[in-house]
Amino acid sequence: MASKDQADPQQVVKQETASQRRVTVRTLQQRKDAKEKISMLTAYDCMTAIWLDRAGVDCILVGDSLGMVFQGKPTTVSVTVNQMIYHGRIVASAVQHSMVIVDLPFPIGQLGIRNTVRVAAKILKRTGCSAVKMEGGAAQADSIAALVDAGIPTMAHIGLRPQSVHAMGGFRVQRDREQLLQDAIAAQEAGAFAVLIECVPAKLASSITRDLRVPTIGIGAGKGCDGQVLVTQDMLGFGEKSIGKFVRGYANMYSIANDAIKSYCSDVVSGKFPSDAESFE
Ligand code: KIV
Repeated sequence: MASKDQADPQQVVKQETASQRRVTVRTLQQRKDAKEKISMLTAYDCMTAIWLDRAGVDCILVGDSLGMVFQGKPTTVSVTVNQMIYHGRIVASAVQHSMVIVDLPFPIGQLGIRNTVRVAAKILKRTGCSAVKMEGGAAQADSIAALVDAGIPTMAHIGLRPQSVHAMGGFRVQRDREQLLQDAIAAQEAGAFAVLIECVPAKLASSITRDLRVPTIGIGAGKGCDGQVLVTQDMLGFGEKSIGKFVRGYANMYSIANDAIKSYCSDVVSGKFPSDAESFE
């Protein structure tokens, strides 16, 4: 066994192998350069984080979509910093391989550079996540630059920005080519390691992707982006109703759970559950 002062060579190798397997900002850039796609899904809890991580998803987003998906609110606007810290910490501590990115909730990106850096640093310190995502492009370029200067890897989020849903007049496809290009380039030049593009026509998102050196991650933005993200509960079909045109339902968890819960209730009512084998002597 190595003494306290000596590094155990086996341990060092183990740690190196683990950190090599970890997805980082470098991995994502290498993927773009090699024209290999990037996968990203959301998680707010430990079990989902383990599913995604062990299945090999590249990035896990602790999105402020938790306001709608987890809390059942109509928008993401009410989500707080403490809620992001709570969920971010749970997810980060369950993950071994994926890169965990946490959302800056409304209106942190608009509170001035010092406040944005202060809150983002607090979120990273308390959660153990390795990057933040901030809604905004050209108008938030100074804040993105300050975050990056402070050593906080930042993903920009352009196109449909759910935190601005009231100003945007609803959850709608964004088509302002000039604005979107300007946002994407400004975010990249400010040092964003990636740009998430939400609900933008496929051709426009492809052309932004070609113009950028850094990876783009699309949601409702067609197949030309460097990567794709979906809300996990949407793609697994947790909800009673299907969601948007851009969501592919890879499972129907609602109906699986509904069947299982009905069977349980009927077994309880009929006395079939628990059996002797499920009971203690
Ligand atoms: O909050 C979120 O989950 C998002 C989506 C783009 C996936 O930002």
